[in-house]
Amino acid sequence: MSARLKGKIAIVTGAGSGIGRAAALRFALEGAVVVCADVSGENADKTAAEASGAGYQAVAKQVDVASAEQVQRMADETATEFGRIDVLYANAGVGGVGTAMDTDEAEWARVIGINLTGVWLSAKYVLPHLLAAGGGSIVNQASIGGLVGVPAVAAYAAAKAGVIGLTRQMALDYGSAGIRVNAIAPGTVSTPLVQGIWESGAGLVSGGDLAAREAAAAAIYPLKRIGTPDDIANLALFLASDEASWITGAVYVVDGGKTAS
Ligand SMILES: NC(=O)c1ccc[n+]([C@@H]2O[C@H](COP(=O)([O-])OP(=O)(O)OC[C@H]3O[C@@H](n4cnc5c(N)ncnc54)[C@H](O)[C@@H]3O)[C@@H](O)[C@H]2O)c1
Repeated sequence: MSARLKGKIAIVTGAGSGIGRAAALRFALEGAVVVCADVSGENADKTAAEASGAGYQAVAKQVDVASAEQVQRMADETATEFGRIDVLYANAGVGGVGTAMDTDEAEWARVIGINLTGVWLSAKYVLPHLLAAGGGSIVNQASIGGLVGVPAVAAYAAAKAGVIGLTRQMALDYGSAGIRVNAIAPGTVSTPLVQGIWESGAGLVSGGDLAAREAAAAAIYPLKRIGTPDDIANLALFLASDEASWITGAVYVVDGGKTAS
């Protein structure tokens, strides 16, 4: 076993499924103590149990990242239980569907509240503990939808573009304290979130069953496949680790070449 996060205390939000689950397991495998945070306490428990069952260190916390109170409790409890926080992977998110015209105010508020405000709240309440630890790494989950247009996901795209702006902004404010802040902009990974977007007829592909949609999505990527959760977790691991110690304020696409054109 290598141990690229040996001794680090890492919070992963949205750890109950998809990319967050893969990252939580990867971080644990690489020596971190991982707090698996998710609005689904059941799924957070499953990820933490999977890591613990394999002999690694992980605990679960049920947290809605759109709730300031719950996020603050997550951060403060983590610091109390483990003595410090070194890494935050602010990954939790939902898929919002709708053009600008047919998105109603409640849906706009929901998607922005989780995908953008949730990232800000996670940073806001973890930052005091990173400062106390003398530095750390924040990895924020954006999307290629925050960089280029994707059909019929207005609130989602706005939130992800906001995450990119917030990432660059926080990198400036906290660099001198040794805190790095970077963002990942993934292309398509077939998770429940993306499958929901496809089912609604939005996103990059539509029509057919799940296998047909995955094949259609793969065809539009230069590498001729869609991503796996591990493709994204690999970069999150690198950015979380000290190997990325001179990288901050950066936005990395992991998209099989999609945004190259
Ligand atoms: N899958 C993709 O193609 C893709 C592409 C670009 C970006 N992303 C981003 O990656 C992140 C993870 O998505 P995924 O594809 O793994 O989806 P997923 O649906 O598999 O996992 C998302 C997890 O976030 C949790 N979650 C949702 N709302 C939450 C809240 N309010 N508080 C805490 N947890 C909450 C869910 O319960 C779920 O476990 C999201 O931010 C998503 O926007 C995904």
